[in-house]
Amino acid sequence: MVKVIVIYESKYGNTKRVAEAIVEGMNEIGGIEASLSELKEVDLDKIPNYDAILIGSPNHMGGHTRGIKGFIDKLGKLQLKGKMFAVFDTYLGKDFEKAVKKMEKQINEKVPRLKQIAPCLSIKVQGMKGPIVEGELPKCREFGKKIATRLKLG
Ligand SMILES: Cc1cc2nc3c(=O)[nH]c(=O)nc-3n(C[C@H](O)[C@H](O)[C@H](O)COP(=O)(O)O)c2cc1C
Repeated sequence: MVKVIVIYESKYGNTKRVAEAIVEGMNEIGGIEASLSELKEVDLDKIPNYDAILIGSPNHMGGHTRGIKGFIDKLGKLQLKGKMFAVFDTYLGKDFEKAVKKMEKQINEKVPRLKQIAPCLSIKVQGMKGPIVEGELPKCREFGKKIATRLKLG
């Protein structure tokens, strides 16, 4: 089975909900073993066991969190040839795709062997603590489905 890990940071639970909906979408397709993990629980040594790594961050000050930045830096030290990635963020107001674009840039610079499996996903929240804007969660499930389908096709 294709193995995927979905890693996120989430201060108020919104990015966690996005990560869960992505996993729900992947499970709808089936044939994928999807694990969900908060960043602080991730065992870096186990990352090479996965075929794809999905990384999610809330937008903090116009970019991804310090924790996620540090994690991407550490990925650069692992043997990840042939592995895939995708990124997602949550944002307020006008910062659509701002954090995810920075994540993509950092991954392309620091972990160039990781190949992108799908375009980034940027999900809007209504206020600092959420909730997620109506109509956004189905996009997360679609994102999960698309990734699962592509991974299964190899
Ligand atoms: C310290 C801090 C800085 C933030 N800066 C931004 C920002 O620059 N742009 C933005 O769109 N949202 C910003 N936000 C709002 C977050 O994007 C929002 O709290 C987050 O998406 C909620 O996700 P979470 O529940 O997973 O923490 C900020 C939030 C915090 C706590």
